[in-house]
Amino acid sequence: MNDMRIAERATHVSTRKISATGVQVHYGDTHAIKDVNVEIEDKTVTAFIGPSGCGKSTFLRCLNRMNDTIDICRVSGQILLDGEDIYDPKVDPVQLRAKVGMVFQKPNPFPKSIYDNVAYGPRIHGLAKNKADLDDIVEKSLRRAAIWDEVKDRLDAPGTGLSGGQQQRLCIARAVATQPEVLLMDEPCSALDPIATAQVEELIDDLRQKFSVVIVTHSMQQAARVSQKTAFFHLGNLVEFGETGQIFTNPIDPRTESYITGRIG
Ligand SMILES: Nc1ncnc2c1ncn2[C@@H]1O[C@H](COP(=O)(O)OP(=O)(O)OP(=O)(O)O)[C@@H](O)[C@H]1O
Ligand SMILES: [Mg+2]
Repeated sequence: MNDMRIAERATHVSTRKISATGVQVHYGDTHAIKDVNVEIEDKTVTAFIGPSGCGKSTFLRCLNRMNDTIDICRVSGQILLDGEDIYDPKVDPVQLRAKVGMVFQKPNPFPKSIYDNVAYGPRIHGLAKNKADLDDIVEKSLRRAAIWDEVKDRLDAPGTGLSGGQQQRLCIARAVATQPEVLLMDEPCSALDPIATAQVEELIDDLRQKFSVVIVTHSMQQAARVSQKTAFFHLGNLVEFGETGQIFTNPIDPRTESYITGRIG
């Protein structure tokens, strides 16, 4: 019995997935991220919180090199994924983004069928051996995103014809279809009603069994509900990072306290 307990506990020990050191981001003359150091653990939900414009989305986009697509954006410092530098010239950003997937604030399904939205990534990365295999990946991804039952009879219908909450879950299915190791979510529930929000939150908790999830949220209730670790950003600085419970009940930095008690933001 004792041994079993130890084994069970051992499976819950988190390992480091992403390690960021001295990260700076500039957009032209704007210094958006200032010397940020953070460790993102595997099989953990990490929440990024902080007032509007503090750099949450900017830092999130560093983690899968989405900032590469913004001309005036310059990123420096080091970000390691499983010990490998993701900014190394030999890293293909497209491959990286299959490993470090992203879900945006506004659902953005492709103008394609529901099936093709989910099949897109596995097709370009050659993840399916044949049509049956691809069907299987599509079904599993839609199930994992808690939308299979709603769409299984209309997989050929356009993804853009779904409701906002369904579209967001479709985008989550699309992101998980390439079997990412990390899922980045930038305010994934801001366009959703409370029911769809609850579904997505449940899903995030489920995804944590397999992946590492980083979520940007303006809702402190949401951060408290879904995350185990919380990072508080303010004016481009990572002010405080720790266990979510500690950040919300016993913050060390006065800026964190002001934010969570509603005095700044
Ligand atoms: N594409 C861009 N071009 C120029 N400046 C940008 C760009 N994106 C962000 N910034 C600037 O970088 C800073 C951080 O912005 P960012 O979008 O990361 O903040 P945020 O914390 O995600 O805010 P919000 O909560 O409003 O989404 C801001 O000063 C913003 O104006
Ligand atoms: Mg943002």
